[in-house]
Amino acid sequence: MKIFPSSTTQAIPETGEVPVHVAIIMDGNGRWAKQRLMPRTAGHMRGVQAVRRTVEACGQRGVRYLTLFAFSSENWRRPQQEVSLLMRLFVQALEKEVDKLVEQGVRLRVVGDLGAFDEHLRALIHDAERRTEHLSTLTLTIAANYGGRWDILQATRRLLAARPELAERPDALDESALAPYLSMAYAPEPDLFIRTGGEQRISNFMIWQLAYTELYFTRTYWPDFNAAALDEAFEWYRGRERRFGRTSEQLRVPQ
Ligand code: IPE
Ligand code: IPE
Ligand code: MG
Repeated sequence: MKIFPSSTTQAIPETGEVPVHVAIIMDGNGRWAKQRLMPRTAGHMRGVQAVRRTVEACGQRGVRYLTLFAFSSENWRRPQQEVSLLMRLFVQALEKEVDKLVEQGVRLRVVGDLGAFDEHLRALIHDAERRTEHLSTLTLTIAANYGGRWDILQATRRLLAARPELAERPDALDESALAPYLSMAYAPEPDLFIRTGGEQRISNFMIWQLAYTELYFTRTYWPDFNAAALDEAFEWYRGRERRFGRTSEQLRVPQ
């Protein structure tokens, strides 16, 4: 008899050679620049090249979902000049890179509280999503003005708006009821999380979905991240034993 009274994963995924979903906190742009006596913004500009390389490398390796944390709900606290530069880079990337995404079969999606962005940026996001919506080789999600706590809250609000009877019967609320309202309901939970830049924290990124993700931290600053660094992370991932609550022995005997 199989009983999973309060399983924290919806389903146990197949563990393949290449992770299906890779989620990355692209960190270390500022320190990369500082090391070179350059302004932090120079690091962000170089970071865009690393995004290009990573998208291409993931596509070539058969990754199906790549999620990149580009701007957190907490990043508004940075100096105004840095925030404006980051917004400008986002606009530029949407203006210039979408053709390349189409060529590579990449579907672009942007998640986060987009209401905080100006109308021009929102229109560009909408247009890029529409132009790539028929593509499926790789789904690239950019998390912008995103926070994991925001995501859980907005999902709860939308769920209760759609099913007001749940407020009267909270016992009927379970994970599978909430999951479809999370902003990345279209993707399986990440298999591999990568954070560059040496910090070992989650910084409010996908806190719901990372419950059983393999967490990989590298000191490499994001502007230096490349295909070889990605392969190192994949190599490490292949050596993991994903147990999802089971014992090692159970994994060796098909259940
Ligand atoms: C990540 O690099 C980029 C964003 C948060 C937008 P940082 O700018 O955080 O770089 P460090 O951590 O200061 O080096
Ligand atoms: C996390 O990086 C957010 C992004 C990469 C967009 P931060 O550099 O802002 O994270 P903390 O604040 O140091 O944890
Ligand atoms: Mg940082």
